[in-house]
Amino acid sequence: MKDVLLELERRRAEARAGGGETRINAQHERGKLTARERLAVLLDPGSFEEFDMFVEHRCTDFGMADNKIPGDGVVTGWGTINGRTVFVFAKDFTVFGGSLSWSHAEKIMKVQDMALRNRAPIIGLFDAGGARIQEGVAALGGYGEVFQRNVLASGVIPQISVIMGPCAGGDVYSPAMTDFIFMVRGTSYMFVTGPEVVKTVTNETVTADELGGADVHTSRSAVADGAYDDDITALNDVRRLVDLLPASTLTPAPTLPTEDAADRLDHALDTLIPDSPTEPYDMRELLERVADDGELFEIQAAFAGNILTAFGRVEGQTVGFVANQPLVLAGVLDADASRKAARFVRFCDAFSIPIVTFVDVPGFLPGTAQEYGGLIKHGAKLLFAYAEATVPKVTVITRKAYGGAYDVMASKHLRGDFNYAWPTAEIAVMGPKGAAEILYRADRSDPAALEARITEYQQRFANPFVAAERGFLDEVILPHGTRRRVARALRLLRDKKLDNPWRKHDNIPL
Ligand code: HXC
Repeated sequence: MKDVLLELERRRAEARAGGGETRINAQHERGKLTARERLAVLLDPGSFEEFDMFVEHRCTDFGMADNKIPGDGVVTGWGTINGRTVFVFAKDFTVFGGSLSWSHAEKIMKVQDMALRNRAPIIGLFDAGGARIQEGVAALGGYGEVFQRNVLASGVIPQISVIMGPCAGGDVYSPAMTDFIFMVRGTSYMFVTGPEVVKTVTNETVTADELGGADVHTSRSAVADGAYDDDITALNDVRRLVDLLPASTLTPAPTLPTEDAADRLDHALDTLIPDSPTEPYDMRELLERVADDGELFEIQAAFAGNILTAFGRVEGQTVGFVANQPLVLAGVLDADASRKAARFVRFCDAFSIPIVTFVDVPGFLPGTAQEYGGLIKHGAKLLFAYAEATVPKVTVITRKAYGGAYDVMASKHLRGDFNYAWPTAEIAVMGPKGAAEILYRADRSDPAALEARITEYQQRFANPFVAAERGFLDEVILPHGTRRRVARALRLLRDKKLDNPWRKHDNIPL
């Protein structure tokens, strides 16, 4: 018996050693943790249970029959984050560069299947060289199987990807189909084809970081949702995100008790809006003052700053905040802001997370760049996302709600449940100047007459009462009571039931 136990320990130690000391040291020298070290940070201490640590590849080409390392480049299993089950896989770069063989793919498929069957989130940590070159089509098949499972799990369980090293070729599309992608600055990059191929095909010279580094994907392409300076910070923040999310569509997000009173009044909000309608203010401050303990988890903070998307809690329950940000481009809706917010709204709706929207929007951004870039389709994404969402929707217009953007931003007409406005709200087809110039074209040559027309339009529409008189707003509220109003509304809506007509699936403008 003792020999058998020793043999088990020997085999386990061999698997845990991965690609060996030299490769582990190289990993550390690059500022990266190993796959197992990463899982130790991500999961509650002692909670990780590994699957398939003895799995090896079955490739015999290119001398691979004699080159096997147990585990085959990916560590898989399950554990807990603050006591809640998550399934995990972590690519082990020290073993064949974390590259994907058929056996490696089978290990990932197993945890994907288990996560879906047991309705628990799945988190993938990526640090890999793509398809195992020696395996050929078997590796391609493996990717296809993983992709298929990503799609079946989409909108059923949260799927999170963390890119912590190379992520190229076949490795990029699985993360791309998950709900959130986070990256580590300096050590991670994602691209379909690397700098050498780019040079050959397009004659562009770029570094891996310039092509697909964390800053590129969080601020330009919007492929990634957040970037961190090192592995540990990234993994700790993923723990924080998991705390905010439900395990699946079958269960609500966990409630976190808070000392922050739901009826807390905040008089600083009464002076948040500047006297001048063109002067910006920081909408993030409003979100922080409404959320429990001022805590937010922002998604895509570095992209399309004219709209904010963040998770937070109200009375301990997770909500998704969407808010125009007057500090950036006056909070205008452009193509980037629209698709950023649309994806966030759809995630919240899929996972029954109520949406709280703060509106201060001068409209959609005009111009050829926007129109050529498909503003109509991108804007429609956000409109579509809000309109199809059946979760509780609470909206507060703080200042401007002009034009189509008024409709889009969770208005009453898109089944907003509670639509509030501050007394500073202005709701109109367009800003007073633009309106007067169109309505009174003849007065354009007479500045005094035009000014009078502008004032007339402003007096008529630069207030919330025209909309309130029609019932498009449920109430005009005092800014200092916003948290109390939002919390009460969400409490009332806890058992909201609303279904869309049956269909195979909708056809959101992609
Ligand atoms: C097999 C691989 C590998 C791969 C790396 N290795 N990538 N083995 N298949 N795809 C091995 C190396 O041989 C090496 O083994 C170890 O991993 C570390 O690799 P290095 O090159 O020494 O590391 P580094 O200098 O850090 O470079 C990392 C890298 C580079 C940038 C990822 O290895 C690389 O470019 N790899 C190939 C990437 C690629 O083209 N993959 C195929 C993509 S096509 P030893 O034994 O020396 O430690 C694809 C198609 C799928 O994925 C499409 C499905 C839809």
